[in-house]
Amino acid sequence: MSVHGNARKVTTHTLQEMKRAGEKITMLTAYDFSLAKLVDRGGVDVILVGDSASNVMAGRDTTVPMSLEHMIYHAQCVERAVDRALIVVDMPFGTYQGNSAIALESAIRIMKESGGHAVKLEGGAEIVESIQRILTAGIPVMGHLGLTPQSIYKFGTYTVRAKEDEEAAKLIADAKLLEEAGCFAIVLEKIPAHLAKQVSDALSIPTIGIGAGQDCDGQVLVLHDMLGITTDFSPRFLRRYLDLESQITGAVEQYCDDVRGGDFPNEEESY
Ligand code: KIV
Repeated sequence: MSVHGNARKVTTHTLQEMKRAGEKITMLTAYDFSLAKLVDRGGVDVILVGDSASNVMAGRDTTVPMSLEHMIYHAQCVERAVDRALIVVDMPFGTYQGNSAIALESAIRIMKESGGHAVKLEGGAEIVESIQRILTAGIPVMGHLGLTPQSIYKFGTYTVRAKEDEEAAKLIADAKLLEEAGCFAIVLEKIPAHLAKQVSDALSIPTIGIGAGQDCDGQVLVLHDMLGITTDFSPRFLRRYLDLESQITGAVEQYCDDVRGGDFPNEEESY
């Protein structure tokens, strides 16, 4: 039996065993009870309560405005739905950079109030002190390198990162630093596939890619993007598995026609 198939509950150790066994790790985002239930039933290994909720749930342009309270609320909704997957909660912008004591306090609030199983932080050397302090409390930490959306105002664009040698060298050094610090996995976002392979081969902890090619130890997508609910975001790395935008608007149009035409409710749908 595979490591994935054996795991009644996925833990950080399951993911590390999966890497050792050469089994790919699956991760998707979720932010609410109903969809988290379906994602967990679908057998995904990790559910990320991502701060991408800022975009897909709240309609904002960036992830910067997300607060700790927002993240805790979404994580609580997800936690009530999930039986098997490991739940990782994004630490929002401003709750861990620059002050490791505040980082620890924020991570403890997420763990105590949401019931999530781990936290994710964006960045390398600049935030390693915060990561180390969070780890001392026994809170598992997932790293996130490459395109780090919370730093959008520093970079100015969402284009592929670490194409130049200097940035690639920093990314490799950061990945090793995060592994040494004790992170259990690292998200690699929007970097060249050959670099993601190099990092994945060099680390003993799993890498989870998004726009980072097929050699990462696992893959993650934003749920609303892969289900085709959001259609104004079409990066090359995104594979859409459904076209829910047209199915949902079609169903709503049909409902409106049925009500307006007196077809709904009919006798069988009435008391
Ligand atoms: O917030 C998020 O959804 C993420 C993924 C894109 C990895 O961080």
